[in-house]
Amino acid sequence: MATERLKIDLTYLGPDSVLIYPIFSNAGEKILEARTPLSNEKITNIIEKHGKIVYYSFSEDMGNIPNHRIYSALNKSREIMDEIVKTDQISKARYKESEELVEVMLNDLVASETDTIKLLKDLNSFDDYTYNHSVNVLLLVSVFSHKLKRFSLDELKSMLLGAFLHDIGKMKLDKQLLNKRGKLDVTEYQKMKRHPQLGYEIIKNIDASNKIVQQCILFHHEKFNNKGYYGLPYENLPLYPKIISICDVFDALTSKRPYRSAASPADALKIILNSINNHFDYDLISKFVNILGPFLNNTRHFYGKHEICELNTNELALIIKLGEKDILKPEVIVFCKFQKSRSRINVKFYDKPFKVNLEDDKLRIMINVLSNEYQVYSLKNKLLEKSLLRVVKMDTLSLIDEEAEVH
Ligand SMILES: [Fe+2]
Repeated sequence: MATERLKIDLTYLGPDSVLIYPIFSNAGEKILEARTPLSNEKITNIIEKHGKIVYYSFSEDMGNIPNHRIYSALNKSREIMDEIVKTDQISKARYKESEELVEVMLNDLVASETDTIKLLKDLNSFDDYTYNHSVNVLLLVSVFSHKLKRFSLDELKSMLLGAFLHDIGKMKLDKQLLNKRGKLDVTEYQKMKRHPQLGYEIIKNIDASNKIVQQCILFHHEKFNNKGYYGLPYENLPLYPKIISICDVFDALTSKRPYRSAASPADALKIILNSINNHFDYDLISKFVNILGPFLNNTRHFYGKHEICELNTNELALIIKLGEKDILKPEVIVFCKFQKSRSRINVKFYDKPFKVNLEDDKLRIMINVLSNEYQVYSLKNKLLEKSLLRVVKMDTLSLIDEEAEVH
């Protein structure tokens, strides 16, 4: 991708200017980092070294994995998927090229400060989704696993390769099945469940020694509640396929499919949060939303003040202040205890709702933000009816004995 450059005559810049992009010399050397305040001294130094004409760059690659890398991954994904459809396998050459691709991507990450992830979302066909998805999961896993700072470079390389190839087994399934609108029936679901095994067999033939790649492909559909494709005990699984899985789910949710529209990044993060102890464990979700949330969602928060959340203690609480250090630990007013029986939920409101800062509370964790508008509306109404909370303004609630909080 070409980078747009704009000529700047330094003699026209005032000493206190701050440019939001870096400045480059004519030869392409970066001579000033983005957002560095200029001074007379700095301007004179640059002019002495590089002349008065410099270049201001609006590269699309800024803060992102370079576009040319993303597009070469996309081409590679196409080649691999098409090769499997035609020959039922991947050639040694293609596998080697994929290894090289993830290696340079990893080098990009280590060398630069990525602060945003641009995912491929322009889908024109089913095939586009298949190719784009493998690249998007690769991008998400790259940044997430790198930022986690707990893997060696070799582990990272294998995870990236596992991410890139995680769904190759699908190429051995019927296109109609993959693209079916609506829910799969039992037989179709059984066929779909075979794709991790089919992918594993393709990889095992080329590279029998890389266990991490194999685990990523085999176990990326396992769940915390043990109701995944294999139903394996989740706690015994390695972390690698769990990371692939959460990135896989995020990209699937935010992609337009024939049977549903795409969720916004914020909604997808909320859906992922609400799958605590169901699809994923708390720790993985917490790391995912805290590390990748700001990269994906622009604003760090994907839920809001005055929403109602469920706690692990079978309590409901009103969110009054968003988590600062940890996005999953807001300040809340706990107002009821509930019990779920098969057909109904029994709610017991506390006579005196109380404030809890989840950052300091060792017992309580937030496991769900209620998304059913009717449910939220009736709960808030109940709180007002029972005079447990009071209206501060509009639909804003607070503790009865607390000073009105107006911002
Ligand atoms: Fe899959």
